[in-house]
Amino acid sequence: MRAAVFSTRRYDQSLLARANEAAGHELVFIQDRLTVETAALAAGCRAVCVFVNDNVDAAVLEVLARQGTGLVATRSTGYNHVDCEAAARLGVEVVRVTDYSPHSVAEFAVGLLLAVNRKIARASARTREGNFELDGLMGFDLHGKTVGVIGTGKIGSIFARIMLGFGCTVIGYDAFRRPEFEQMGGRYVELATLVETADVISLHCPLNDDTRHIIDAGTLGKMKKGTVLVNTSRGGLVDTEAATQALKSGQLGGLAIDVYEQEASLFFQDLSSTIITDDVIQRLVSFPNVIVTGHQAFFTVEAIGQIMATTIASISAFERGEELVNRIPRD
Ligand code: NAI
Repeated sequence: MRAAVFSTRRYDQSLLARANEAAGHELVFIQDRLTVETAALAAGCRAVCVFVNDNVDAAVLEVLARQGTGLVATRSTGYNHVDCEAAARLGVEVVRVTDYSPHSVAEFAVGLLLAVNRKIARASARTREGNFELDGLMGFDLHGKTVGVIGTGKIGSIFARIMLGFGCTVIGYDAFRRPEFEQMGGRYVELATLVETADVISLHCPLNDDTRHIIDAGTLGKMKKGTVLVNTSRGGLVDTEAATQALKSGQLGGLAIDVYEQEASLFFQDLSSTIITDDVIQRLVSFPNVIVTGHQAFFTVEAIGQIMATTIASISAFERGEELVNRIPRD
């Protein structure tokens, strides 16, 4: 089947091509993001393969459906960038990658937490300059601290398990409580309790209408002074302007983010020779107690291999008219 692959980077191209060796689909690699302007590039493609910052809204889906696309396969777990209602209305199937190394993201969240708390990136930058001073590098023991996990699904529960291993008290909030979380030693609480008692909060829930800005000025104001916030889930979970104010006042003690509300126009590209006009991100990266990475938590050999294999399997299943096991439910 002919499939247009948007937002292709070098690693996508080689790994997807390798995963496709046996299936033999005709993959059309496109570096651009999918938008209403670029949708025409998928003309003649029954399948369209997208990534997290592609825009798969109703207008784009209308163009795709008109051109004969019947399947949108996102190379991600999250699908907040796809208008699933419009896809259902237009008869376009949407699949994602439900299962790929959740360890990749959970481990990266732990890495971000350690890096921001123990100022590892700052220390490394200093030693490169021959500066071995410790002033400004003090962190706190995670052992004995209370870690709040919002969203205790696949990634959140692995993150929780690692934090339990550090000797932390782990509390969780989830719209759907799982017995396994409590069996491993976590304790469910209401969101307000989590926000008020945690020393560290890590976000692992999907972005949807209920969770957009789940961390806003109100929640930030209720946190303990100096709480560290980690977000490896989706940028829209955090009101970035409110987080910036909380950092300025010292209410937020540290912020480590792999995702950012306005990341679509920034991430996955080298902008080092251009003037970045997004003042919010520029202000954020200027704080000594902030770490920003460009949506790389998923980026491990294991996770990428699984993402590519699942995506090709979904395209093959669609071509054969088989059940799409990774189909996003139409509700
Ligand atoms: P999952 O579906 O296993 O877990 C999500 C959990 O959030 C579930 O337990 C669900 O009940 C809970 N949840 C849903 N609505 C909620 C609400 N309103 N309040 C509280 N909890 C709620 O998903 P998984 O695999 O753990 O992924 C979590 C998120 O991580 C994804 O949605 C995606 O946005 C993000 N992600 C980020 C990556 C990165 O590279 N930075 C890579 C992969 C995923």
